[in-house]
Amino acid sequence: MSAAPFSRRLLDWHATHGRHDLPWQVSDPYRVWLSEIMLQQTQVITVIPYYQRFLERFPDVASLAAAPVDDVLALWSGLGYYTRARNLHKAAQAVIERHGGAFPRSPAAISELPGIGASTAAAIAAFSFNTRAAILDGNVKRVLARWAGIDGLVAQKAIEKQLWALAESLLPDGPDMPAYTQAQMDLGATVCTPKKPACLACPLQDDCVAKRDGRQAELPTPKPK
Ligand code: ADE
Ligand code: SF4
Repeated sequence: MSAAPFSRRLLDWHATHGRHDLPWQVSDPYRVWLSEIMLQQTQVITVIPYYQRFLERFPDVASLAAAPVDDVLALWSGLGYYTRARNLHKAAQAVIERHGGAFPRSPAAISELPGIGASTAAAIAAFSFNTRAAILDGNVKRVLARWAGIDGLVAQKAIEKQLWALAESLLPDGPDMPAYTQAQMDLGATVCTPKKPACLACPLQDDCVAKRDGRQAELPTPKPK
């Protein structure tokens, strides 16, 4: 066993190897939310100019809520998955109408807005409000399935439940939720990649089950073809 807890190792790794210059590394929940929606199906490098143009036109949730949906779609043009833009617009109106213009703070309330699932809601709360909430996106599922040696389809309800419980059990206690959340995303994007993960650069290598057993290519269990 490694001496330091999982979260400590991720935080230390992130301090030296994580991404610190992303434009959405801010505490404004509106900006964090916008970035998370754009990043759901689109790469960082593509998102950045769209994110900046969007914020110039709609600097806050009120300006977005008040805009015609066609203006929102025009700014989304080229990003694809236009349901994201329609839901973003609807959610902005819900923040104004249901929450008096203040972005909700709890992951449960955030996840009731259109287009925001449980993991995205937790990410928004962790980044914006330092809320102690676990994320479980595709990258985190892969890291956890490998590290803990969890077999089975990660899209299956029972496996997902197990992964959520594990993610929650690994949360840090301190004030580092933004860094911890970003660290998990960055580890999955740059080290524990789908193909040929860079285990020798990984802060989890000392007690990773997939690495120990040479099962990185078998975990997470591939979807049947
Ligand atoms: N993908 C989803 N959320 C992200 C974030 N905050 N930074 C980089 N990539 C992401
Ligand atoms: Fe992923 Fe390798 Fe790290 Fe295990 S040791 S979590 S397989 S990168």
